[in-house]
Amino acid sequence: METIKFEYKESSGILLGELDEIIESLRKYRERLHMMADEGGYAAPESSINLPSDEGMHNEIEAVAAKFKTSTLKYIVHIGIGGSVLGTQAIYEALLGSYDALVPNRLPKIIFIDTNCSGMIKTIRDLFRVLQNPEEVVIHVVSKSGTTTETIANFEIIYAFLKERFGEVKSRVVVTTDRGSKLWTAGETQGFTCLPIPQNVGGRYSVLSAAGILSLSLAGIDAHALREGASKMREICLSGNIEENIALISAAILYHHYQKGISIHNSFFFGPELESLGKWYRQLLAESIGKEGKGILPIVSIGSNDLHSVAQLYLGGPANIFTTFVRVEDGTAGIKVPTTPMFSGLVPGIAAKDFSEIGNAIYGGVLAAYKKRALPFVEIIFPEISAKTLGAYVQFKMIETMYLAHLLAVNAFDQPNVEEYKAETRRMLEGH
Ligand code: PA5
Repeated sequence: METIKFEYKESSGILLGELDEIIESLRKYRERLHMMADEGGYAAPESSINLPSDEGMHNEIEAVAAKFKTSTLKYIVHIGIGGSVLGTQAIYEALLGSYDALVPNRLPKIIFIDTNCSGMIKTIRDLFRVLQNPEEVVIHVVSKSGTTTETIANFEIIYAFLKERFGEVKSRVVVTTDRGSKLWTAGETQGFTCLPIPQNVGGRYSVLSAAGILSLSLAGIDAHALREGASKMREICLSGNIEENIALISAAILYHHYQKGISIHNSFFFGPELESLGKWYRQLLAESIGKEGKGILPIVSIGSNDLHSVAQLYLGGPANIFTTFVRVEDGTAGIKVPTTPMFSGLVPGIAAKDFSEIGNAIYGGVLAAYKKRALPFVEIIFPEISAKTLGAYVQFKMIETMYLAHLLAVNAFDQPNVEEYKAETRRMLEGH
Protein backbone atom coordinates (compact mmCIF):
# COMPACT_ATOMS: atom_id res chain seq x y z
CA MET A 1 0.00 0.00 0.00
CA GLU A 2 1.36 3.42 -0.93
CA THR A 3 1.50 6.26 1.51
CA ILE A 4 -0.27 9.60 1.24
CA LYS A 5 0.46 11.84 -1.74
CA PHE A 6 1.02 15.58 -1.81
CA GLU A 7 0.25 17.63 -4.93
CA TYR A 8 1.39 21.23 -5.13
CA LYS A 9 3.18 22.00 -8.39
CA GLU A 10 0.30 23.49 -10.37
CA SER A 11 -1.62 25.24 -7.63
CA SER A 12 0.46 26.33 -4.65
CA GLY A 13 1.33 29.78 -5.97
CA ILE A 14 5.05 29.55 -5.29
CA LEU A 15 7.83 29.55 -7.87
CA LEU A 16 10.25 26.66 -7.74
CA GLY A 17 13.21 28.98 -7.09
CA GLU A 18 11.42 30.53 -4.09
CA LEU A 19 10.56 27.10 -2.75
CA ASP A 20 14.14 25.86 -3.08
CA GLU A 21 15.46 28.90 -1.24
CA ILE A 22 13.17 28.36 1.76
CA ILE A 23 13.91 24.65 1.82
CA GLU A 24 17.63 25.33 1.72
CA SER A 25 17.27 27.56 4.78
CA LEU A 26 15.92 24.50 6.63
CA ARG A 27 18.81 22.22 5.68
CA LYS A 28 20.68 22.36 9.00
CA TYR A 29 17.50 21.92 11.03
CA ARG A 30 16.46 18.96 8.91
CA GLU A 31 19.90 17.42 9.44
CA ARG A 32 19.53 17.96 13.18
CA LEU A 33 16.17 16.18 13.18
CA HIS A 34 17.72 13.38 11.21
CA MET A 35 20.44 13.02 13.78
CA MET A 36 17.86 12.93 16.58
CA ALA A 37 16.07 10.14 14.76
CA ASP A 38 19.32 8.21 14.31
CA GLU A 39 20.17 8.56 17.98
CA GLY A 40 16.67 7.69 19.24
CA GLY A 41 15.62 8.62 22.76
CA TYR A 42 14.00 11.77 23.99
CA ALA A 43 16.75 14.32 24.48
CA ALA A 44 14.93 17.21 22.76
CA PRO A 45 11.32 18.36 22.32
CA GLU A 46 11.51 17.23 18.69
CA SER A 47 12.01 13.68 19.98
CA SER A 48 8.32 12.88 19.52
CA ILE A 49 9.54 11.77 16.07
CA ASN A 50 11.04 8.76 17.85
CA LEU A 51 7.78 7.56 19.44
CA PRO A 52 6.81 5.09 16.68
CA SER A 53 10.11 3.24 16.90
CA ASP A 54 10.31 3.06 20.70
CA GLU A 55 9.92 -0.70 21.11
CA GLY A 56 10.30 -0.66 24.89
CA MET A 57 7.53 1.88 25.33
CA HIS A 58 5.20 0.11 22.93
CA ASN A 59 5.80 -3.27 24.58
CA GLU A 60 4.79 -1.74 27.89
CA ILE A 61 1.61 -0.26 26.34
CA GLU A 62 0.79 -3.59 24.72
CA ALA A 63 1.18 -5.42 28.01
CA VAL A 64 -1.19 -3.00 29.74
CA ALA A 65 -3.66 -3.27 26.84
CA ALA A 66 -3.58 -7.08 27.08
CA LYS A 67 -4.29 -6.91 30.81
CA PHE A 68 -7.23 -4.52 30.45
CA LYS A 69 -8.79 -5.94 27.29
CA THR A 70 -11.20 -8.41 28.82
CA SER A 71 -13.56 -10.42 26.64
CA THR A 72 -16.47 -8.37 27.98
CA LEU A 73 -14.91 -4.92 27.50
CA LYS A 74 -17.52 -2.49 26.15
CA TYR A 75 -16.37 1.04 26.87
CA ILE A 76 -13.04 2.81 27.09
CA VAL A 77 -13.73 6.13 28.76
CA HIS A 78 -10.87 8.32 27.52
CA ILE A 79 -10.62 11.44 29.69
CA GLY A 80 -8.30 14.23 28.52
CA ILE A 81 -8.39 17.56 26.75
CA GLY A 82 -6.42 19.28 23.96
CA GLY A 83 -3.38 17.25 23.03
CA SER A 84 -4.45 14.54 25.45
CA VAL A 85 -7.55 13.63 23.46
CA LEU A 86 -7.67 15.21 19.99
CA GLY A 87 -5.24 12.87 18.23
CA THR A 88 -6.83 9.74 19.67
CA GLN A 89 -10.30 10.94 18.72
CA ALA A 90 -9.09 11.93 15.25
CA ILE A 91 -7.76 8.46 14.47
CA TYR A 92 -10.73 6.67 16.03
CA GLU A 93 -13.32 8.72 14.15
CA ALA A 94 -11.44 8.61 10.86
CA LEU A 95 -11.46 4.81 11.05
CA LEU A 96 -14.85 4.16 12.58
CA GLY A 97 -16.77 7.17 11.42
CA SER A 98 -18.32 9.87 13.54
CA TYR A 99 -21.44 7.71 13.12
CA ASP A 100 -19.96 5.04 15.44
CA ALA A 101 -22.66 5.88 17.98
CA LEU A 102 -25.24 4.57 15.51
CA VAL A 103 -23.71 1.11 15.66
CA PRO A 104 -24.39 0.20 19.30
CA ASN A 105 -23.26 -3.39 18.93
CA ARG A 106 -19.80 -2.58 17.58
CA LEU A 107 -17.78 -2.90 20.78
CA PRO A 108 -15.60 -1.91 22.50
CA LYS A 109 -16.17 1.79 21.88
CA ILE A 110 -14.14 4.75 23.02
CA ILE A 111 -16.12 7.48 24.76
CA PHE A 112 -14.20 10.76 24.68
CA ILE A 113 -14.64 13.12 27.61
CA ASP A 114 -12.90 16.48 27.34
CA THR A 115 -14.68 19.61 28.50
CA ASN A 116 -16.85 19.60 31.65
CA CYS A 117 -20.27 18.87 30.16
CA SER A 118 -23.00 17.93 32.63
CA GLY A 119 -25.18 16.29 29.96
CA MET A 120 -22.33 13.97 28.96
CA ILE A 121 -21.49 13.15 32.56
CA LYS A 122 -25.10 12.27 33.37
CA THR A 123 -25.19 9.99 30.33
CA ILE A 124 -22.06 8.22 31.56
CA ARG A 125 -23.67 7.68 34.97
CA ASP A 126 -26.74 6.14 33.29
CA LEU A 127 -24.49 3.97 31.13
CA PHE A 128 -22.56 2.70 34.16
CA ARG A 129 -25.84 1.82 35.90
CA VAL A 130 -26.64 -0.82 33.29
CA LEU A 131 -23.19 -2.43 33.24
CA GLN A 132 -23.03 -5.93 34.71
CA ASN A 133 -19.43 -5.99 35.89
CA PRO A 134 -16.50 -3.57 36.11
CA GLU A 135 -14.59 -5.47 33.42
CA GLU A 136 -16.92 -3.92 30.86
CA VAL A 137 -15.18 -0.58 31.26
CA VAL A 138 -11.71 0.97 31.35
CA ILE A 139 -11.13 4.55 32.46
CA HIS A 140 -8.08 5.97 30.72
CA VAL A 141 -7.20 9.39 32.12
CA VAL A 142 -4.58 11.29 30.11
CA SER A 143 -2.90 14.51 31.12
CA LYS A 144 0.66 15.45 30.27
CA SER A 145 0.91 18.02 33.05
CA GLY A 146 -1.34 16.07 35.39
CA THR A 147 -3.02 19.18 36.71
CA THR A 148 -5.52 20.22 34.03
CA THR A 149 -8.72 21.31 35.75
CA GLU A 150 -11.26 19.87 33.29
CA THR A 151 -9.54 16.47 33.11
CA ILE A 152 -9.09 15.97 36.82
CA ALA A 153 -12.65 17.16 37.58
CA ASN A 154 -14.08 14.78 34.95
CA PHE A 155 -12.00 11.89 36.29
CA GLU A 156 -13.07 12.47 39.89
CA ILE A 157 -16.76 12.41 38.97
CA ILE A 158 -16.56 9.46 36.57
CA TYR A 159 -14.48 7.38 38.95
CA ALA A 160 -16.98 8.12 41.74
CA PHE A 161 -19.81 6.85 39.48
CA LEU A 162 -17.97 3.61 38.78
CA LYS A 163 -17.21 3.15 42.45
CA GLU A 164 -20.84 3.82 43.34
CA ARG A 165 -21.83 1.03 40.92
CA PHE A 166 -19.20 -1.62 41.72
CA GLY A 167 -17.30 -0.59 44.85
CA GLU A 168 -13.53 -0.02 44.62
CA VAL A 169 -12.51 -0.40 40.95
CA LYS A 170 -8.90 0.76 40.89
CA SER A 171 -8.03 -2.18 38.67
CA ARG A 172 -10.06 -0.61 35.81
CA VAL A 173 -8.12 2.68 35.68
CA VAL A 174 -5.05 3.61 33.66
CA VAL A 175 -3.33 6.95 34.19
CA THR A 176 -1.12 8.30 31.39
CA THR A 177 0.98 11.31 32.30
CA ASP A 178 4.48 12.67 32.70
CA ARG A 179 6.44 10.43 35.03
CA GLY A 180 7.32 13.40 37.23
CA SER A 181 3.84 14.90 37.47
CA LYS A 182 1.72 15.13 40.61
CA LEU A 183 -0.83 12.91 38.85
CA TRP A 184 1.81 10.20 38.43
CA THR A 185 2.63 10.28 42.13
CA ALA A 186 -1.05 10.33 43.10
CA GLY A 187 -1.87 7.54 40.63
CA GLU A 188 0.89 5.32 41.98
CA THR A 189 -0.10 6.03 45.57
CA GLN A 190 -3.68 4.98 44.76
CA GLY A 191 -2.47 1.79 43.08
CA PHE A 192 -3.61 2.70 39.56
CA THR A 193 -1.74 1.40 36.53
CA CYS A 194 0.41 4.29 35.26
CA LEU A 195 1.96 4.78 31.81
CA PRO A 196 4.43 7.56 31.03
CA ILE A 197 4.49 10.16 28.27
CA PRO A 198 8.22 10.73 27.67
CA GLN A 199 9.22 13.95 29.37
CA ASN A 200 10.23 15.96 26.33
CA VAL A 201 7.14 14.99 24.32
CA GLY A 202 4.50 17.71 24.50
CA GLY A 203 0.75 17.07 24.62
CA ARG A 204 -0.04 17.92 21.00
CA TYR A 205 2.84 15.72 19.78
CA SER A 206 1.90 12.76 22.00
CA VAL A 207 -0.67 10.80 19.98
CA LEU A 208 1.83 8.03 19.16
CA SER A 209 2.67 7.51 22.85
CA ALA A 210 0.47 5.77 25.44
CA ALA A 211 -1.68 8.93 25.39
CA GLY A 212 -3.21 7.74 22.11
CA ILE A 213 -2.03 4.20 21.52
CA LEU A 214 -3.49 2.60 24.65
CA SER A 215 -7.13 3.61 24.07
CA LEU A 216 -6.86 2.91 20.35
CA SER A 217 -5.40 -0.57 20.95
CA LEU A 218 -8.11 -1.37 23.46
CA ALA A 219 -10.66 -0.42 20.81
CA GLY A 220 -9.07 -2.90 18.40
CA ILE A 221 -7.20 -0.42 16.20
CA ASP A 222 -3.94 -1.77 14.79
CA ALA A 223 -1.19 0.07 16.68
CA HIS A 224 1.53 -1.68 14.66
CA ALA A 225 0.09 -0.34 11.42
CA LEU A 226 -0.18 3.16 12.87
CA ARG A 227 3.47 3.03 13.90
CA GLU A 228 4.54 1.55 10.59
CA GLY A 229 2.84 4.36 8.67
CA ALA A 230 4.37 6.97 10.96
CA SER A 231 7.87 5.46 10.73
CA LYS A 232 7.78 5.37 6.95
CA MET A 233 6.59 8.98 6.89
CA ARG A 234 9.35 10.04 9.28
CA GLU A 235 11.87 8.70 6.78
CA ILE A 236 10.25 10.73 4.00
CA CYS A 237 9.99 13.93 6.05
CA LEU A 238 13.59 13.84 7.23
CA SER A 239 14.96 12.87 3.85
CA GLY A 240 17.51 14.98 2.00
CA ASN A 241 15.70 14.05 -1.18
CA ILE A 242 13.83 17.33 -1.36
CA GLU A 243 11.49 16.19 -4.14
CA GLU A 244 9.95 13.57 -1.85
CA ASN A 245 10.14 15.46 1.45
CA ILE A 246 6.53 16.61 1.69
CA ALA A 247 6.86 18.11 5.19
CA LEU A 248 9.61 20.46 3.99
CA ILE A 249 7.67 21.42 0.87
CA SER A 250 4.40 22.00 2.70
CA ALA A 251 6.02 24.04 5.49
CA ALA A 252 7.89 26.15 2.93
CA ILE A 253 4.69 26.88 0.99
CA LEU A 254 2.81 27.91 4.14
CA TYR A 255 5.70 30.13 5.18
CA HIS A 256 5.91 31.75 1.74
CA HIS A 257 2.24 32.70 1.83
CA TYR A 258 2.45 33.87 5.44
CA GLN A 259 5.19 36.27 4.42
CA LYS A 260 2.92 37.57 1.67
CA GLY A 261 0.17 38.28 4.22
CA ILE A 262 -1.88 35.08 4.01
CA SER A 263 -2.26 34.07 7.64
CA ILE A 264 -5.29 31.76 7.44
CA HIS A 265 -4.83 28.07 6.66
CA ASN A 266 -7.95 26.19 5.70
CA SER A 267 -7.71 22.41 5.94
CA PHE A 268 -10.57 21.31 3.72
CA PHE A 269 -11.37 17.64 4.33
CA PHE A 270 -13.58 15.85 1.83
CA GLY A 271 -15.09 13.27 4.18
CA PRO A 272 -17.05 14.04 7.34
CA GLU A 273 -15.24 11.27 9.21
CA LEU A 274 -12.04 13.31 8.88
CA GLU A 275 -13.33 16.35 10.76
CA SER A 276 -11.66 15.36 14.02
CA LEU A 277 -8.37 14.98 12.17
CA GLY A 278 -8.81 18.62 11.21
CA LYS A 279 -9.41 19.57 14.83
CA TRP A 280 -6.27 17.75 15.89
CA TYR A 281 -4.24 19.64 13.28
CA ARG A 282 -5.92 22.90 14.26
CA GLN A 283 -4.51 22.60 17.77
CA LEU A 284 -1.11 21.50 16.46
CA LEU A 285 -0.71 24.51 14.18
CA ALA A 286 -2.36 27.10 16.44
CA GLU A 287 -0.48 26.27 19.64
CA SER A 288 2.84 25.56 17.97
CA ILE A 289 3.00 28.70 15.85
CA GLY A 290 0.75 31.25 17.55
CA LYS A 291 3.05 33.22 19.81
CA GLU A 292 5.16 36.37 20.02
CA GLY A 293 2.70 38.19 17.78
CA LYS A 294 3.12 35.60 15.01
CA GLY A 295 0.69 32.94 13.88
CA ILE A 296 -1.38 31.29 11.20
CA LEU A 297 -5.07 30.83 11.95
CA PRO A 298 -6.03 27.20 11.21
CA ILE A 299 -9.59 26.63 10.12
CA VAL A 300 -11.25 23.33 9.26
CA SER A 301 -13.82 22.81 6.53
CA ILE A 302 -15.70 19.70 5.55
CA GLY A 303 -16.64 18.80 2.00
CA SER A 304 -19.13 18.88 0.70
CA ASN A 305 -21.10 20.28 3.69
CA ASP A 306 -19.21 23.56 3.96
CA LEU A 307 -19.46 24.28 0.25
CA HIS A 308 -23.03 25.13 1.19
CA SER A 309 -22.10 27.37 4.08
CA VAL A 310 -18.72 29.10 3.79
CA ALA A 311 -17.45 28.45 0.25
CA GLN A 312 -19.00 31.70 -0.96
CA LEU A 313 -16.63 33.56 1.34
CA TYR A 314 -13.65 31.39 0.38
CA LEU A 315 -14.24 32.00 -3.32
CA GLY A 316 -15.66 35.51 -3.35
CA GLY A 317 -14.30 37.11 -0.17
CA PRO A 318 -10.81 38.45 0.54
CA ALA A 319 -8.06 36.35 -1.01
CA ASN A 320 -6.38 35.83 2.36
CA ILE A 321 -6.68 32.07 2.81
CA PHE A 322 -4.31 29.26 1.88
CA THR A 323 -6.08 25.92 1.46
CA THR A 324 -4.98 22.32 1.91
CA PHE A 325 -7.55 20.00 0.38
CA VAL A 326 -7.58 16.49 1.81
CA ARG A 327 -9.32 13.68 0.00
CA VAL A 328 -9.36 9.93 -0.30
CA GLU A 329 -8.29 8.42 -3.63
CA ASP A 330 -11.00 7.57 -6.12
CA GLY A 331 -12.62 4.25 -5.50
CA THR A 332 -16.05 2.82 -5.77
CA ALA A 333 -18.09 3.45 -2.68
CA GLY A 334 -20.50 0.70 -3.70
CA ILE A 335 -23.47 2.96 -3.03
CA LYS A 336 -25.35 4.00 -6.14
CA VAL A 337 -28.28 6.23 -6.96
CA PRO A 338 -31.03 4.00 -8.42
CA THR A 339 -31.06 3.61 -12.20
CA THR A 340 -34.57 5.00 -12.29
CA PRO A 341 -34.56 7.82 -9.75
CA MET A 342 -37.75 8.87 -8.05
CA PHE A 343 -37.08 12.51 -9.01
CA SER A 344 -35.89 11.74 -12.48
CA GLY A 345 -34.54 14.84 -14.21
CA LEU A 346 -34.12 17.00 -11.08
CA VAL A 347 -30.36 16.54 -11.11
CA PRO A 348 -29.53 15.28 -14.59
CA GLY A 349 -26.64 12.84 -14.69
CA ILE A 350 -26.91 11.24 -11.25
CA ALA A 351 -28.93 8.15 -12.25
CA ALA A 352 -26.95 4.93 -11.59
CA LYS A 353 -23.92 6.95 -10.42
CA ASP A 354 -21.81 5.71 -7.54
CA PHE A 355 -21.38 8.12 -4.59
CA SER A 356 -17.69 8.30 -5.44
CA GLU A 357 -18.47 9.58 -8.96
CA ILE A 358 -20.72 12.28 -7.55
CA GLY A 359 -18.06 13.15 -4.97
CA ASN A 360 -15.36 13.38 -7.63
CA ALA A 361 -17.48 15.73 -9.70
CA ILE A 362 -18.05 17.99 -6.69
CA TYR A 363 -14.36 17.93 -5.77
CA GLY A 364 -13.32 18.61 -9.37
CA GLY A 365 -15.75 21.53 -9.49
CA VAL A 366 -14.26 23.08 -6.35
CA LEU A 367 -10.70 22.77 -7.63
CA ALA A 368 -11.71 24.34 -10.93
CA ALA A 369 -13.29 27.29 -9.11
CA TYR A 370 -10.15 27.80 -6.99
CA LYS A 371 -7.93 27.65 -10.08
CA LYS A 372 -10.11 30.13 -11.96
CA ARG A 373 -9.55 32.66 -9.18
CA ALA A 374 -5.87 31.72 -8.76
CA LEU A 375 -6.49 30.95 -5.07
CA PRO A 376 -3.46 29.01 -3.78
CA PHE A 377 -3.89 25.44 -2.59
CA VAL A 378 -2.24 22.06 -2.21
CA GLU A 379 -3.76 18.58 -2.05
CA ILE A 380 -3.18 15.67 0.30
CA ILE A 381 -4.45 12.42 -1.14
CA PHE A 382 -4.99 9.33 1.00
CA PRO A 383 -4.90 6.10 -1.03
CA GLU A 384 -7.31 4.79 1.63
CA ILE A 385 -8.19 5.54 5.21
CA SER A 386 -6.35 2.99 7.36
CA ALA A 387 -4.31 2.92 10.55
CA LYS A 388 -1.20 3.03 8.38
CA THR A 389 -2.14 6.12 6.37
CA LEU A 390 -3.41 7.90 9.47
CA GLY A 391 -0.12 7.21 11.24
CA ALA A 392 1.62 8.67 8.20
CA TYR A 393 -0.62 11.75 8.17
CA VAL A 394 -0.09 12.68 11.83
CA GLN A 395 3.66 12.21 11.52
CA PHE A 396 3.75 14.32 8.34
CA LYS A 397 1.85 17.17 10.01
CA MET A 398 3.91 17.10 13.20
CA ILE A 399 7.21 17.31 11.31
CA GLU A 400 5.81 19.95 8.92
CA THR A 401 4.85 22.04 11.98
CA MET A 402 8.36 21.75 13.41
CA TYR A 403 9.82 23.04 10.13
CA LEU A 404 7.31 25.87 9.95
CA ALA A 405 8.02 26.95 13.55
CA HIS A 406 11.72 26.93 12.75
CA LEU A 407 11.14 29.19 9.74
CA LEU A 408 9.09 31.55 11.91
CA ALA A 409 11.68 31.42 14.69
CA VAL A 410 9.16 30.40 17.36
CA ASN A 411 9.23 27.56 19.86
CA ALA A 412 6.92 24.86 18.46
CA PHE A 413 6.70 23.06 21.77
CA ASP A 414 5.52 25.50 24.42
CA GLN A 415 2.16 27.17 25.07
CA PRO A 416 2.94 29.91 27.58
CA ASN A 417 -0.36 31.69 27.17
CA VAL A 418 -2.42 28.52 27.68
CA GLU A 419 -0.50 28.01 30.91
CA GLU A 420 -1.50 31.57 31.93
CA TYR A 421 -5.21 30.77 31.75
CA LYS A 422 -4.72 27.41 33.47
CA ALA A 423 -2.89 28.98 36.41
CA GLU A 424 -5.52 31.72 36.69
CA THR A 425 -8.34 29.13 36.74
CA ARG A 426 -6.61 27.19 39.52
CA ARG A 427 -6.13 30.41 41.48
CA MET A 428 -9.85 31.24 41.21
CA LEU A 429 -10.91 27.75 42.26
CA GLU A 430 -8.66 27.97 45.29
CA GLY A 431 -10.43 31.23 46.18
CA HIS A 432 -7.40 33.55 45.92
O1 PA5 B 1 -0.51 20.88 23.65
C1 PA5 B 1 -0.64 21.07 24.84
O2 PA5 B 1 0.30 20.86 25.61
C2 PA5 B 1 -1.96 21.52 25.47
O3 PA5 B 1 -2.90 21.92 24.58
C3 PA5 B 1 -2.50 20.37 26.28
O4 PA5 B 1 -2.66 19.27 25.42
C4 PA5 B 1 -3.83 20.63 26.96
O5 PA5 B 1 -3.84 21.86 27.62
C5 PA5 B 1 -4.09 19.54 27.99
O6 PA5 B 1 -3.03 19.50 28.89
P1 PA5 B 1 -2.64 18.23 29.71
O7 PA5 B 1 -2.34 17.14 28.76
O8 PA5 B 1 -1.46 18.66 30.49
O9 PA5 B 1 -3.81 17.89 30.58
